[in-house]
Amino acid sequence: MEKTLVLIKPDAFGNGDAGNILKRYEDEGFKIVAAKVMQMDEKIAAIHYSEHREKSFYKNLVEFMTSAPLMALVLSGENVISRVREINGATNPANAAEGTIRKLYAKDNTQNAVHASDSPESAAREIPIFFSAIEIFELVHSV
Ligand code: CMP
Repeated sequence: MEKTLVLIKPDAFGNGDAGNILKRYEDEGFKIVAAKVMQMDEKIAAIHYSEHREKSFYKNLVEFMTSAPLMALVLSGENVISRVREINGATNPANAAEGTIRKLYAKDNTQNAVHASDSPESAAREIPIFFSAIEIFELVHSV
């Protein structure tokens, strides 16, 4: 079954929105197959956001993502990668459709509540940044 990496970012996690966000993903039919609360450090941020290193917003993004705990998830389900991107809504909550997670819980481009992998290649790259080889082995063999 297809899998994706989701991060409930420090804003949404700190605001106590994780429960509602998890419920939404479950209500949409996805399974939570791995989950952990953790604090991103600069090294993890540099690896996870390597494609954005030269962007003007990179410093802000890393500062925010390392500022407080977040929740990392692996969700599985049919077309989970594209469907979760739809449910999350546009990066900027001002452009996010009604009912999307970012419309409901995000504040701006940086404090935007959630991250989700944007392609199968991204999911394959991102999941091992947050979950160890043993966790992934268990995930592959139990789901
Ligand atoms: P995310 O899915 O975590 O991946 C890259 C992040 O960069 C994105 O979500 C945004 O939160 C963040 N970001 C901050 N500023 C901008 C911007 N101006 N344009 C696009 N992304 C931005």
